[in-house]
Amino acid sequence: MKKIIVHQEQQYKKLGDLFGLFFEDINHAADGGMYAELVQNRSFEFCEIDRKDYHPLTAWAKSENALWEVKSEHPLNPENTHYLEVNVQAGDHICNSGFNTGMFLETGKKYDFSVWAKVKDADHTELSGQLNICVKDENKKIIAQNQLVISGDQWQKYELVLEAVDTTVCGNLYLIFETEGTFDLDMISLFPQDTFKGRKYGLRKDIAEALGEMQPKFIRFPGGCLTHDGSLDDHARNSMYRWRRTIGKIEERPSWRNNWGYNQTLGLGYFEYFQYCEDIGAKALPVVPGGFNPHKGEGVDLEHIDEWVQETLDLIEFANGDVNTKMGAIRAQMGHPESFHLEYLGIGNEEIGAGFFERYTYFHEAVREKYPDIKIINTAGPFAMGEGYEDGWSSARKHGSDLVDEHYYAAPEWFLANMHHYEDYDDKGPKVFLGEYASWGNTFYNAIVEAAYMTHLERSKAVALACYAPMLCNVDYVNWKPDMLWFNNHAVLKTPNYYVQKLFMQAQGTDAVAFEKEGLDEVIALSDKDDLSGQFVIQGNDVAGRIWDVVVTDLDTGKMINIDDFDVDLDNKENFLADINSKRYTIEFSFKRSVGRKGLKIFFGKTENTMVQWEFGGWDNWDCNISTFVNGRNSAISHRIFHVEDIEYRLKLEVTGRRIQTWVNGVQWNDTVDRLPELEELYVTASIDEDTKKTYVKAVNLTGEEKEVQIDLTGEEKTMVEIISFTADSLAAENTFENPDRVVPKSSMAEVKDNQLVYTFPAHSVTVLAYL
Ligand code: AHR
Repeated sequence: MKKIIVHQEQQYKKLGDLFGLFFEDINHAADGGMYAELVQNRSFEFCEIDRKDYHPLTAWAKSENALWEVKSEHPLNPENTHYLEVNVQAGDHICNSGFNTGMFLETGKKYDFSVWAKVKDADHTELSGQLNICVKDENKKIIAQNQLVISGDQWQKYELVLEAVDTTVCGNLYLIFETEGTFDLDMISLFPQDTFKGRKYGLRKDIAEALGEMQPKFIRFPGGCLTHDGSLDDHARNSMYRWRRTIGKIEERPSWRNNWGYNQTLGLGYFEYFQYCEDIGAKALPVVPGGFNPHKGEGVDLEHIDEWVQETLDLIEFANGDVNTKMGAIRAQMGHPESFHLEYLGIGNEEIGAGFFERYTYFHEAVREKYPDIKIINTAGPFAMGEGYEDGWSSARKHGSDLVDEHYYAAPEWFLANMHHYEDYDDKGPKVFLGEYASWGNTFYNAIVEAAYMTHLERSKAVALACYAPMLCNVDYVNWKPDMLWFNNHAVLKTPNYYVQKLFMQAQGTDAVAFEKEGLDEVIALSDKDDLSGQFVIQGNDVAGRIWDVVVTDLDTGKMINIDDFDVDLDNKENFLADINSKRYTIEFSFKRSVGRKGLKIFFGKTENTMVQWEFGGWDNWDCNISTFVNGRNSAISHRIFHVEDIEYRLKLEVTGRRIQTWVNGVQWNDTVDRLPELEELYVTASIDEDTKKTYVKAVNLTGEEKEVQIDLTGEEKTMVEIISFTADSLAAENTFENPDRVVPKSSMAEVKDNQLVYTFPAHSVTVLAYL
């Protein structure tokens, strides 16, 4: 009989805060997402910098005869510069369409309406006006309504409650003027009262609860590229994410471009992030920009870096300082005199280039000196290897950063080929924070491959923290897929990936413990293709240019193919050049760009389902990368920093088996091996929880055969086990809004005798054995 022997008393790694979440405001995760505001563009601040087709009246409409204009002469405050002036006759209206199909209101539930307003027109003797505030569905049926009287010519906040008499997912908010006049309106807002923890102007309950029930140990926020992709000027519309401007009264927060192509109200700002973390028992892990925008290669002048560093120190004081400190007092004023107990701080998000690491030093040294207990997180670029990655790690070692933030998105095959990624990491130096990772897809198969990888994350002494990314996605505003939790305006959809994350969080424990496997050590190769033969294709990457002297050489036979000179054009057309049937070959050619910023995509080893790409001047012209594609899903396997210029290049590629090398003008740039995926017979990890006294065995069976295994525990006696089994009717199974529970874990109880259990792990499954 195959066996797993778990040594409950042999603890080898403190699991600490291992499994957590990553919140980025991407895919409308905040506005139109977890931030429960139902009105879109509540303060008439939308503009074309946020998105080309946005304007101050986006999401607003009016009755034909009403006259309106967005003005800025007498703003509510200097941060909220626009407001709506509307001149109406009795019966006129304005209305807001909300997000998605409209606003979601439910029968019997209450909603907080508020508006800042004044009556403007001196001709209007009463200086007051009556409004009917209501929500109508798509058939103009009234779902909720109430009356509002506005009076006076000074800005004032008005509030009232609407109670829904019916349910709709297509609600529009109407302000119907029952008296004529001219009104100035701003911050027109509608929130459900039934928010997470009932907090006024709070978070959408279903999303916030779905995340909370996972029991994450930490939340990384607010991004992602959201953190660093923007202007260095914190008063610019497209500023980087500068935390200091996201706190205080909601109506006094600026409205910003979100780099994912929409507007962010900042209603969900740093205070709310900290509060949510506290509410669900997760540690806050904020990430601040390091004064360097890698998307543009722009950094703050070093003579001004002190301001950025001070802002970072202020953040720590805002979170932890007592109420007598300047920032602690602001926190107290916002309703939280107690410390938020911040322990972690990320500086930068996958920046590459010396410009960042030069600036990192200033942040690191200042934080270390003033707050020696804060764990500082350095950053290692967007790939699991390569130049940005090496730079991040060497900076971390040089400075003694506590952790290094690694990111990678890859095909399941990459994860299967790289399960032992962390095996040779030095566990005495900075620890790994795997701050963003996912396999491309939301199928059951993606999720169980991630589960297998997570057994290795849990076991590696080098890995301290890990979180899946991205976390949230509004189905109608997709910037990035896959995502862990999808939602529309009224429901959430838990993906298989969500359930895997949740299983590993809930069954994490405090300490990893040793185990042995008997008869379970087979390694199963998934492919025997030991070469990269296939088609050779070149495509411009948003550039035009000339390609000449193209030669393909078969290194085994010496046979050469000469290919005619040609142009690449801005149409990014694929130019098929040769079918290479060889285990060892070179490709050489010359290239000169004439138009555009980037370079070329060179494909080789191209077959029906797989290919390799050499990207010369990729991603904003920063990269010289090798990536593999399996069924259209890419995985980077080599990364160098490179900026293509308008000069002549002689490029050379050499393929030997699955080893790939490149040279640019005679200098080697890439040297990597495209590893083949393989399966372990059963992926296992074991842990104990010192607090609950539970013991966990997590096992992932990626094979198509069930495995009968005897699980023996040494040490403390256990008599019952909860068995949580995660299986599906197909590897391609996904959850959908129509069928949200197609793939869900199922739980049962079993007795344990003499610390022994015989269990059959189903084919293609994740199993958690939670011994009580
Ligand atoms: O998670 C989506 C994006 O991927 C993040 O913003 C960025 O950090 C990474 O490139």
